[in-house]
Amino acid sequence: MYRDSLSLKIDPVRCSSCGLCVRECVNDVLTLDPETKRPGVKPGGEARCIHCAHCLMACPSGAFSMDGIDPDNCPAPGKTLPDFDSLLTLVRNRRSIRHWQDRDVEREKLEKLLDAMRYPPTAVNYRNLLFSVIETSEKMNRFREAFYRDFFERFPESDEAVSWKQARQNGRDIVFRDAPHLIVAAYDENSFRGQVDCVIALTQFEMLANAMGVGTVWFGRILIVMEKFMPELADKLGIPAGFRPGYAMLFGYPAAKFHRTIRREMPRVVFPG
Ligand SMILES: Cc1cc2nc3c(=O)[nH]c(=O)nc-3n(C[C@H](O)[C@H](O)[C@H](O)COP(=O)(O)O)c2cc1C
Repeated sequence: MYRDSLSLKIDPVRCSSCGLCVRECVNDVLTLDPETKRPGVKPGGEARCIHCAHCLMACPSGAFSMDGIDPDNCPAPGKTLPDFDSLLTLVRNRRSIRHWQDRDVEREKLEKLLDAMRYPPTAVNYRNLLFSVIETSEKMNRFREAFYRDFFERFPESDEAVSWKQARQNGRDIVFRDAPHLIVAAYDENSFRGQVDCVIALTQFEMLANAMGVGTVWFGRILIVMEKFMPELADKLGIPAGFRPGYAMLFGYPAAKFHRTIRREMPRVVFPG
């Protein structure tokens, strides 16, 4: 298991015994000691702890430290949130991008996006995702060319090879969509709902990327290729044994321009009972 055991440290001066840490605990790990009135771990509670740190974050006086995290080093929640309308605009404007500017996403911007990948939720807070990123168009071109060469050589009769080859002859790359960058989110085989965790992370990546002018397109095709033809691509992408590719996304600065959005059909909604 990649998690360490649980360790708590309660500052007796700051702790007011309010019990908010106990109330916030997701899996009933904590209790207030009947004598000292300080929080502690219930017998057997450690095994239930998912290390979400809600206890630490809920403590009003910063008395609660867990797993060696100093509450004084945890920033206060941001106060200026984007409003509904601006977020809706982001969601509605997002388009799958398949035409790109001839420039790479700057390293600095990429690092900012990757840094944000510490925040998406995971099913049981088993935060062990791995991101494989092709960060330059030069590398991407090499990856793309090697991919096509290999694929056409090994699976020449497949429907995929026939149609992709034809597209290539017409100057179209219908697999990688000519994108300058690729990100693959991979999950630890021992995780619970690891693939869902990957999709959630990439969804947040997509929104944040769009917010900084970087376009994206989900890349289901590469998953199909890895499942059906070339599982070894995971290795080429630096995904180690014990991890599986969960989902993938192409990204870069968009050259496509959309002059209007589409009002999509509402999905069916039911209110049961
Ligand atoms: C899970 C998923 C996988 C996708 N895979 C691909 C893909 O491999 N290649 C591609 O060009 N588009 C892919 N797409 C993009 C969809 O085709 C796209 O969302 C749809 O055409 C609607 O366009 P929009 O995203 O601009 O609304 C994928 C989308 C999703 C959600």
